[in-house]
Amino acid sequence: MRLSGKVAIITGAANGLGLAAAEIFAKEGASVAIADFNEELGQARAQELADRGHRVAFFQVNVADQNSVNTMVKNVLDTFGKIDILVNNAGITRDAMLKKMTLENFQKVIDVNLTGVFLCTHAVLPSMLEQGSGRIINTSSVSGVYGNIGQTNYAAAKAAVVGMTKTWAKELGRKGINVNAVAPGFIETNMTAAVPEKVLDTIKQTIPLGHLGKPEDIANAYLYLASDDGKYVNGTTLHVDGGIMM
Ligand code: NAI
Repeated sequence: MRLSGKVAIITGAANGLGLAAAEIFAKEGASVAIADFNEELGQARAQELADRGHRVAFFQVNVADQNSVNTMVKNVLDTFGKIDILVNNAGITRDAMLKKMTLENFQKVIDVNLTGVFLCTHAVLPSMLEQGSGRIINTSSVSGVYGNIGQTNYAAAKAAVVGMTKTWAKELGRKGINVNAVAPGFIETNMTAAVPEKVLDTIKQTIPLGHLGKPEDIANAYLYLASDDGKYVNGTTLHVDGGIMM
């Protein structure tokens, strides 16, 4: 098992990519904190994994709220005793063309997708520095790397996540903490279920592999960066997108 004895916080793990990661991390021996805004779903998913014998617990959090994040991190430390891995996976979309995008929806996406990554990393940092080791994995997006129509807010946040990742990789590398990002392409989750079928067909034509990815494709990338397999990888953005970026 590749994460034996490790403790991981995965934000946004009640659903989609984060849930797939929670399952894979737990199977690889990690104790997993499912940290999500959605209490009902998060509790249910954590219970399902715990019923299968995994060490998984739910922690309610709004990643955009500093008090909420600090409380979540304290509760995880009280429950599991340490934090080895943080996957900053929680994210939202509020798409609109620039002309119609409101400041409220611009700010909301920045608050969750960018400030949330800052707040969660800031909160786990003291314990990682104290133990002299850690892995931070930030979720960017293909939209943040090459832009996407209707996603001014989302692309801005996801591009900023890449810059923050590189900065932290430089700041924290000598402290034993690796920081990397994963930039998923188009993956089959609730987020892409909201995209009209016609648009999805057009997208598929631009993907060299010809189809959308599965949540486990991203979860396996998180696993690689969280495990010893990825121990010399630092400051990179791993593109898991079927080749759409070429
Ligand atoms: P999803 O919508 O299926 O799940 C997101 C989870 O985040 C939900 O459980 C939700 O409750 C939680 N969440 C939302 N706001 C939160 C907050 N303020 N605090 C705590 N939790 C919150 O999304 P999906 O598709 O699994 O996406 C996961 C990550 O991957 C996101 O960062 C997304 O931007 C990114 N991504 C997804 C792609 C896709 O094709 N699905 C493509 C590229 C990036």
